[in-house]
Amino acid sequence: MKKIFITGASSGIGKALAIVYAKHNWCVGMSARRLEMLEEISDNCKDLGGKIFTYDLDVQDSEKCKFVANQFIKDAQGIDCVIANAGVGGDDGLYTGSSEDINYILNTNILGVTNTIMPFIPKMKEQKSGTLVCISSVASYVPLPFHGGYASSKIAIRMIFDSWRPTLQRHNIKTVSICPGFIDTPIVKGPARSFPMRSADAAALKFMNIIEKGKRTYIYPWYYKFLIFLVRVVPEPIFNILIRKLFHRPIN
Ligand SMILES: NC(=O)c1ccc[n+]([C@@H]2O[C@H](COP(=O)([O-])OP(=O)(O)OC[C@H]3O[C@@H](n4cnc5c(N)ncnc54)[C@H](OP(=O)(O)O)[C@@H]3O)[C@@H](O)[C@H]2O)c1
Repeated sequence: MKKIFITGASSGIGKALAIVYAKHNWCVGMSARRLEMLEEISDNCKDLGGKIFTYDLDVQDSEKCKFVANQFIKDAQGIDCVIANAGVGGDDGLYTGSSEDINYILNTNILGVTNTIMPFIPKMKEQKSGTLVCISSVASYVPLPFHGGYASSKIAIRMIFDSWRPTLQRHNIKTVSICPGFIDTPIVKGPARSFPMRSADAAALKFMNIIEKGKRTYIYPWYYKFLIFLVRVVPEPIFNILIRKLFHRPIN
């Protein structure tokens, strides 16, 4: 039985990933802060045939991440794949006079990923196999006003994976960055909910196949590749005019 550890499994994409891996008879380590939600999903996953372990984990807590990683390796008797999925969205709080909002996003989405992944690497190196996955975002290619913290956190984790890849490949450890566009989960709030969205279940199934193939960077759904291409080719002054028209509130 293959073993996978997933953060942010209490909701949205993480929950859908846990369910899809359980359906395919993996041993799944599910973690998040809302344990009661995890337990409910874990019961569903057990009914589907998976072997499930749940862990109360805040990814900002590096010591607890180390402890939980070692505990999962003991409970599951090994590790094949880790998905650093936990993340938060939100506004930078640009005019609040405080770095609290943006730092919360940066801490969760960058340090939360390194806290999750690093404790598993020695075991994967020793066994000469494993797959590390981060859930980046299409936002890592698009400088969205008021969301610099979110977009940059998603670039940072993609870049960390790009920089590790040639080294980890020597130990047969794969690094997969997944860049979703809008997926219908509670993280998508307000006017963004009027954009076309894919379901978390459809996304999770696709991600499982992509992870199995060991693809390096995966943009989902495919049509976001055009948006990314446009952002690259449109000259910056024109891009800034367009993005101001689209995103800036009257007060700004
Ligand atoms: N949905 C989209 O359109 C979209 C697009 C691109 C990328 N993404 C990325 O996909 C990932 C999953 O998001 P989602 O869409 O599934 O949103 P979601 O439904 O809000 O789920 C976020 C998950 O992250 C967990 N989490 C947040 N802060 C945490 C912390 N400090 N410690 C541990 N767990 C924490 C939450 O669990 P608890 O609150 O229970 O801890 C929850 O399970 C995120 O990294 C997000 O940036 C989403």
